Amino acid sequence: MPVHDTTAYIPVENVSWDFSDQVVLVTGAAHGQGASHAQRFAEYGANLVVSDIAGEMEHVTYDLGSVSELEETAEACRSFGGECLSAVCDVRRDDQVKSLVDRAIERFGRIDVLISNAGIATPSSIKDMPLSQWTETMETNLKGSFLFCRHVVPHMIEAGTGRIVLTGSTQTVGSINDLAHYTAAKHGVQGLARALALELEGHDITVNVVCPTAVDTHINAVFSDEAWSAEAGRLVGAWNFFQEEMIHEREITEAMMWLASREVSPMSGSTLMVDAGCMAK
Ligand SMILES: NC(=O)c1ccc[n+]([C@@H]2O[C@H](COP(=O)([O-])OP(=O)(O)OC[C@H]3O[C@@H](n4cnc5c(N)ncnc54)[C@H](O)[C@@H]3O)[C@@H](O)[C@H]2O)c1
Repeated sequence: MPVHDTTAYIPVENVSWDFSDQVVLVTGAAHGQGASHAQRFAEYGANLVVSDIAGEMEHVTYDLGSVSELEETAEACRSFGGECLSAVCDVRRDDQVKSLVDRAIERFGRIDVLISNAGIATPSSIKDMPLSQWTETMETNLKGSFLFCRHVVPHMIEAGTGRIVLTGSTQTVGSINDLAHYTAAKHGVQGLARALALELEGHDITVNVVCPTAVDTHINAVFSDEAWSAEAGRLVGAWNFFQEEMIHEREITEAMMWLASREVSPMSGSTLMVDAGCMAK
């Protein structure tokens, strides 16, 4: 019997959060983990800013979020009673990121929490990887976090407080086959968090990284190839401690919410592995 049955996920009991009247911005919120993060913050009182590229990308072969899914996330957030601003925004585009942050500040006056979640995975060996594929991943998975930090941090400094949580991966500390660009970007996310944490010392603004193991979302459609999966599993030590290959997005959401809490101030520049023991092997 599995230790942890992810097919019948039961929300952790006796855990509650208070994000009343806080403003939380989540990128990549149309579906997957981002939609889960946004809805859970809304459930605990936050007003939300949700964004997504809601379109296609050159090297991505699986479904990215759509406009209708982004609206579904926004509606679900509003159903908890708070406000939600939704907007299409490509995290690679400085002008779009600045415009979204400006609109959020105009609407709510501040951004208390930044959850940088948008990301892609497009496996390829280095020898077969076109430069455009490298750039697409680096710009989405690393530059996107930099751009949001760059535009949100001045407002957090002005407010005297803030929480930033970036999304890493088990590839923040290790690697698997055909993911050099993804690995480089996710290692970079950790470096970005450490550097920014130092830069923000004394401001009550923390910057941390949550590193999920495989989560059951759209991105994993690219990893359905059995040979690839077997080799990747061998490299990371046969995946997780649990029987299932993937965990539920809510497991990641809870970690995000903990690091986003005002109460968690001694932790900054840290990397929290939510990896079911995967990288301990
Ligand atoms: N699912 C996993 O197994 C797993 C494991 C480790 C880390 N992660 C990371 O978790 C994060 C969330 O991924 P997910 O599992 O929810 O995948 P997902 O593909 O289900 O969702 C990703 C979302 O990001 C959006 N997005 C992609 N590129 C974008 C861009 N340039 N601008 C704006 N939005 C963009 C997509 O449209 C989509 O809605 C990513 O950073 C990913 O690298 C995922």
